Amino acid sequence: MIKFNEQTKIFHLQTPNSSYQILISHKGHISHVYYGTKIGADDLSYLTRQMEYGFSSQEIFREKLSLLDFLPMEYPTDGIGDFRESALAISDATNHNGVELIYKNHKIIEGTVQIPGIPCVFAEKSKSKTLVITTEDAVLNVEVDLYYSVFDDCDAIVRWAKIKNNSNQTIFVNKALSAAFDMDDNNFDMITLHGSWARERHLDRRPIHMGKQGVVSKRGETSHQEHPFLAILDKTATENAGNVYGVNFIYSGNFVAEVQKNQFDSLRVTMGINPENFRWKLNAGDAFETPQAVLVFSDKGLNGMSHAFHDLYREHLIRSPFKAKPRPILINNWEATYFNFNTEKLLEIARQSKKDGIEMLVMDDGWFGKRNNDDCSLGDWVVNEEKINGGLKNLVEQVNKIGLKFGIWFEPEMISPDSDVFRSHPDWAIQIPGREPGMSRQQLVLDIVNPEARNFAYESVAKILKSANIEYVKWDMNRQLSDIGTPSLPADQLGEYFHRYVLAVYEMQERLITDFPNLLLENCSGGGARFDPGMLYYSPQIWCSDDTDAIERLSIQEGTALMYPLSSMGSHVSVCPNHAVGRVTPFKTRGYVALSGTFGYELDITKLSDEEHSQVQRQVQLYKEYSDIVRNGDYYRIASYSQNNQFDCWASISKDKKQALITFVQVLNHPNYKSIFVKIPGLAQDKKYKVTYVDEDQTQNPPVILQGSTLQNAGIKIARPWGDFGSILIYIEILNSEFRIQNS
Ligand code: GLA
Repeated sequence: MIKFNEQTKIFHLQTPNSSYQILISHKGHISHVYYGTKIGADDLSYLTRQMEYGFSSQEIFREKLSLLDFLPMEYPTDGIGDFRESALAISDATNHNGVELIYKNHKIIEGTVQIPGIPCVFAEKSKSKTLVITTEDAVLNVEVDLYYSVFDDCDAIVRWAKIKNNSNQTIFVNKALSAAFDMDDNNFDMITLHGSWARERHLDRRPIHMGKQGVVSKRGETSHQEHPFLAILDKTATENAGNVYGVNFIYSGNFVAEVQKNQFDSLRVTMGINPENFRWKLNAGDAFETPQAVLVFSDKGLNGMSHAFHDLYREHLIRSPFKAKPRPILINNWEATYFNFNTEKLLEIARQSKKDGIEMLVMDDGWFGKRNNDDCSLGDWVVNEEKINGGLKNLVEQVNKIGLKFGIWFEPEMISPDSDVFRSHPDWAIQIPGREPGMSRQQLVLDIVNPEARNFAYESVAKILKSANIEYVKWDMNRQLSDIGTPSLPADQLGEYFHRYVLAVYEMQERLITDFPNLLLENCSGGGARFDPGMLYYSPQIWCSDDTDAIERLSIQEGTALMYPLSSMGSHVSVCPNHAVGRVTPFKTRGYVALSGTFGYELDITKLSDEEHSQVQRQVQLYKEYSDIVRNGDYYRIASYSQNNQFDCWASISKDKKQALITFVQVLNHPNYKSIFVKIPGLAQDKKYKVTYVDEDQTQNPPVILQGSTLQNAGIKIARPWGDFGSILIYIEILNSEFRIQNS
C-alpha cells in the first residue's frame, strides 16, 4: 500500500508489518520521516525536527546549512551543505560539484518496474505498488526519480534511482547510490558479513560507533571478503525478538554499505555502487539507473528479517523454473579427481552414482584445451579429446544411458595467457597499456566489456551446450578485477568499466537462460565470492563455498542464510579428511549439513566403503522426503556454534506449519555433561506435533508428542551424540485430529 496525503505532504508506504514515511519538506527536499513497525496514517512530520540546529547563532531559521546538515534525507546530495555521506555526486560541464534535489511531482504505479539490463524484483500488478518521486536540480537541469516498490506479501521495500540529464551539456555522475535514509540511533548494534576464500560470510555483530563504518568491495565482484549487506538492530535483539533493519543489494560488483553516526547521534544508512573507481559520463538526454537495494524491517528479530529476504527472493527475484522444485541430486568430480580424469573415470563415477540414487554427473574444470592444471587454457572452450576420449556427445550419451543427467563447468569471463585465444587476441585481457597486469591463479580477466570478446565467450559456451544433452552449467569466476583498461572505452569513460563489466556478465547470463530455458544454472566464484541477489536473478542456486567441511559450513551457511533462502545455497558432501581443513567428521553430519542446501556430492564415489554407500542411499532418501520443507519453508536459526562455542541448531518449517525439520550439530563433545533442550519457534502454538528423531534408535529415542507452545517455550530434549561433530535430525509433524483425540 502506498498513499500520499496532500495536506501533510507525507507518503506512507506499508508492507504487511512495517511502515515507511517520507515527507516533502517545506523547502521541497525529500525527507525521511519513519521506518519501523506498522503504524497509522498520523502526521509524523514532527519526527524530522526540521529546525533545531544552529551554527554560531541562535537564529536557526536563518540559514540553509543549518537545515541541510540536519534534515533526515532520502537521497542526500553532494556539495550544497549536507556534510554527511551523500548518495549522489555530479560534476557539471565546468567541473562544479553541487547538486540539490527538490520535489517536482510523483506517481504511484501498479506493480514493479524493470530496469533494462539490471536484475530487478518483479510481482503481479495487483500485488505490488511502486512510488516514483521525481525531483529536480533546476540549475543542472537534471531530474532524479526515486523509486520505492512494496509488496502485499512481504516486508521489503525495494529502492533505486534514475538520473536524467535534461540539459544540453555532458555531466559526470561521480557517485549514484541506490538507497539512503536517516534515523535516530537507539543504541543499536550492527551486523555485517566478512571472510575470505573458503571462509565466506562469517557474521560480525558489534555496537555502532561515531563516524562511518561499513563494508565495501572494489574487487569487481561481490567478494569473499565483505558482503553487500548490513543489519542495524536493537542491542537486545535476538533471533526471534527485537527491531532489525536489514539492507541488501541486488548487484554483483563493487559496492558500499555504510552507517554513519553523526553529530546529533543520528544514523545515515547508505548502500549502492562503490563510488571509488566509478565515474559515469552522462551525455545530454541520457539517463543512468542504479541497481536496486532491498530494505527490510522486522520487529521479530533476525529470523523475521531473514524470512522477509527469503520470501522476497523466492517470490519476486529468482526466475528459474527450478526455483521451487527439487533439484537433481548431483555428483561433481572436482574434489574427486581435480584435473585428473577421462571418459572412463567419469563413467565409473556415473555408474556407481546411479546405484546409490544420484541423479546428475557434473564434469568440473579440466575438460577443455590442454588444461591438466590451473595454469592454462581458459578461453579455449574446446573439448580435450585426449581426456574426453570419444568426444563430449558420446560421454553425455553414455551418462544418460546409465540414467544420469549431465552438467558441465565453465569459467567464461577468464583468459589464460597460455591459451590459443590469448595468443590470437592479446588485447582481450583487461590491462593498462604499458603496465604488466597482475596475475591471480595464473589467469587474466577477459575484457567482456568489449562486445567482440564477450560474444566470443558466450558463443563458445553456447556451442558446447548445443553439442550434447547438457542440463546444468556451473558458471565460475575465479579471480578479482585489477589493472582496469580496455580499448573499447574512451579515456573519459574508463570510470564506467567496473559497472559495465557487471552489466556484461548480466547480458551473457540473460542470453544463456533465454537460449537454454530448461538449463539449471549454478553460479560460483572461487566458492562463494559472487553469492548475491544479482546472480540469483539468473541462477536459482549458487555454490556457497569451496570449503565443504561440515563444521566450517555451519558459520558459512548461517551467514549466507541471513538473507538467502536455503534453496539457493550450493552444498555438497565431500570426503574426509576434508580438503580445506583436514578435519574428519561423520558422514552422517556431512549429509545433514548439506541437506540444508541444494544437496549433492563432491567425492570419488567409487572409493567409498559399503557402509558409506548405504549412507549415501539413506541421504538421497532423506533429501527426497524433506527437501520440500527446506526449499520452500521458513528457516529459523535456533542456536549458533559461532556464538555459543558448543552446538548449532536450525529449523525449516513448512509455510502451513504442518511439518518441520530440525538439524542439530554438536561440534565438540564434553564429558559427563548435561543434555540440551532446544526451543523450536514458529509452529502453531495450539496444535500437537509428533517429534521423531530421524536416524536414531527408536527404542532409546521414541517419538514424543508435544504442543507447539511447548516446543517453543520448553523445547525438546537432545541427548548429546557420542563423539565430536555428532548430529541429530528431527522431523516434526502435526497430528491429525483423530490421532490427537486418542493420544492427548
Ligand atoms: C573454483 C570452484 C570450485 C572448482 C574450481 C575449478 O574454485 O569454486 O568448485 O570448480 O574452481 O577450478
